[in-house]
Amino acid sequence: MIALGIETSCDETSAAAVDDRGRILSNVVHSQQVHGQFGGVVPELASRDHLKKIASVAEQAASEAGGLAAVDLVAATGSPGLMGALLVGHSFASALAASLGKPLVTVNHVEAHVWAAFLQDPGLEPPLVALVVSGGHTSLFHMDSGYRLSLMGRTLDDAAGEAFDKVAKMMGLGYPGGPVIERRAAASAGKPPRFPRALLDEGSLDFSFSGLKTAVLNHLLSLGDAYLSRLGPDGIDGVCRGFQDAVFDVLADKAARAAELSRCRALAVVGGVAANGELRRRFGEMAAREGIKLVVPTPDLCTDNAAMVAWNGWRRHIGGVSGPNENTVKSRAQWPQYRRA
Ligand code: KG4
Ligand code: ZN
Repeated sequence: MIALGIETSCDETSAAAVDDRGRILSNVVHSQQVHGQFGGVVPELASRDHLKKIASVAEQAASEAGGLAAVDLVAATGSPGLMGALLVGHSFASALAASLGKPLVTVNHVEAHVWAAFLQDPGLEPPLVALVVSGGHTSLFHMDSGYRLSLMGRTLDDAAGEAFDKVAKMMGLGYPGGPVIERRAAASAGKPPRFPRALLDEGSLDFSFSGLKTAVLNHLLSLGDAYLSRLGPDGIDGVCRGFQDAVFDVLADKAARAAELSRCRALAVVGGVAANGELRRRFGEMAAREGIKLVVPTPDLCTDNAAMVAWNGWRRHIGGVSGPNENTVKSRAQWPQYRRA
């Protein structure tokens, strides 16, 4: 039994086949290159590139898993994301499902990120806390034993990944910013500049990263117009390190607090930023200190991919995962608020 997943919510065109036991048979990801020169994703260009690639990416994913005839279910991301981009993948998936005479399951992209943790560790069971930390989202969820997500906290402004991308842009480091900031931060020697940790001392589980972004910009501008040459390569490494430290201090602290508040002994950290080696190291330390079971998927399952979509689709189809299957495309998602039992 095979589900073919389709993911086009942002700038990755992906298709993957996952069987009903959660084994990944194929996971093809085409990362769009057209956005690099703009320092961020240009929605119209994303839609056009998805349109060019979707058929060949899906064909490859299906053929690596035994061909389209082996597909029993099609799962596609329907929300949240860029409207035009979502429409390309979802329309393709719904036409494919109709032509094969197989069911279509529409999946929420943020929920699918959480399901990457179940692909990674089949032994993982809710209740748990999930930190979704990507380019579009930074949210803390409680997942109950029926696999229902409720929101414990979220960013009030930028997502953490978005802050990585914007800070990289300020220093001319290209897009996406996460991987290059990780590399530059790892190369930093000496004491990095200290940037603010927003909302850390308050009880709230919400995040804010726009003030941190401004603090980095002010730090750069205080060096004058030619701040990049004033900083030099070592100085840039230090700013990357100081910025990354500020982001991860807040993420790790709030995730630990969410686990404590909900009395969960399991934590999943998912989404593109969770591909970061330093984040993984710090969360590993925190989880060991707090006695929490930590699951962080391998980097290819953290960044956008269709395997997580296929697996979420399977589990919704089989039953036991609550929530309606609305076969529609929406750009935004809303979540019920977590209430302490
Ligand atoms: O989950 P994802 O692929 O797409 C969204 O759903 O948004 O996340 C993309 C984000 C980008 O902002 C990118 O800069 C960030 O994840 N990212 C990283 C790393 N790799 C990707 N951030 C920090 N360190 C990384 N190694
Ligand atoms: Zn994503």
